[in-house]
Amino acid sequence: MLLLVLGTAAGGGIPQWNCACPGCSGARADPRRRRRHASLAVRTDDGRWYVVNATPDIGDQIDGRPELRPGPGTRDTPLAGIVLTDAELDHTLGIARLRETDGLQVVSTAPVRQALLDRLHLGDVLAPYTSMTWRELPQRGAEPLDRDTPGLRITGIPVSGKRPRYAADAPEDDAWVVALRLYDPGSGATALYAPALAAWPDSLDRAAAEADCVIVDGTFWDDEEPRRTGISERTATGMGHLPIEGPGGTAERLARLSARCLYTHLNNTNPLVDPAAPQHKTLARLGLEVANDGTVIEL
Ligand code: MLT
Ligand code: MN
Ligand code: ZN
Repeated sequence: MLLLVLGTAAGGGIPQWNCACPGCSGARADPRRRRRHASLAVRTDDGRWYVVNATPDIGDQIDGRPELRPGPGTRDTPLAGIVLTDAELDHTLGIARLRETDGLQVVSTAPVRQALLDRLHLGDVLAPYTSMTWRELPQRGAEPLDRDTPGLRITGIPVSGKRPRYAADAPEDDAWVVALRLYDPGSGATALYAPALAAWPDSLDRAAAEADCVIVDGTFWDDEEPRRTGISERTATGMGHLPIEGPGGTAERLARLSARCLYTHLNNTNPLVDPAAPQHKTLARLGLEVANDGTVIEL
């Protein structure tokens, strides 16, 4: 299994266009501290790629990786489709960015598809540009990620019923946000990708215990961070993101796993966006990492 980390920032990116916080200002001063919106590319057995979440940065994210660039034919692309973990704007606005293609395959849960069709009207809006195919992300049992290629298998594990703000009154469903479990029968490797995590259900615990690599929600360092930094009146948990640190935080759970564990989807208020922050040492002591744009994971 081959995974390319295409971006590691939460909504807004780092720097965020209208933000002068220390994290964003630091990234303007030092381009190495920039982070694009969280996304992952996954290679199929025939050498094509699925991107997990389509961010506002997707054009640059594709162009920034030789593996994802077009060719050899003028309009050939190795991109086979998009898998969505949720319907949040930072994970879906990039779908429209890909409209130059002949066909676009999107794999998601039913509530996510419904939000994109009924609220964002992506089906109607994109129909004159490209043909879209929607596939349901399996939640019970694994299915091939690519129908045409045996090999890599995928399952969605519900981790949050949080609806995007633009669909706040849409029907409740426990699969608004899922973690993705990717299993490669060839190598026997399993990866878990969960850039948004409001809860840690038993199903996720079982999947994490079996995984070789776990990449999870690192939006906020601690539960009070959004309130302390003044970006929200809610806590991290209240915003649908388990914090890293503290009781009930993800660090103590990840530290118990045998998997390689990395954080992604960092908000610009997270102290981890500063490479010199002492919080990096805290994670290192627990054997945990922060994913970077460009991190390559081979399992
Ligand atoms: C989230 O991760 O909670 C969302 O992306 C927040 C947002 O963009 O409104
Ligand atoms: Mn987000
Ligand atoms: Zn900022």
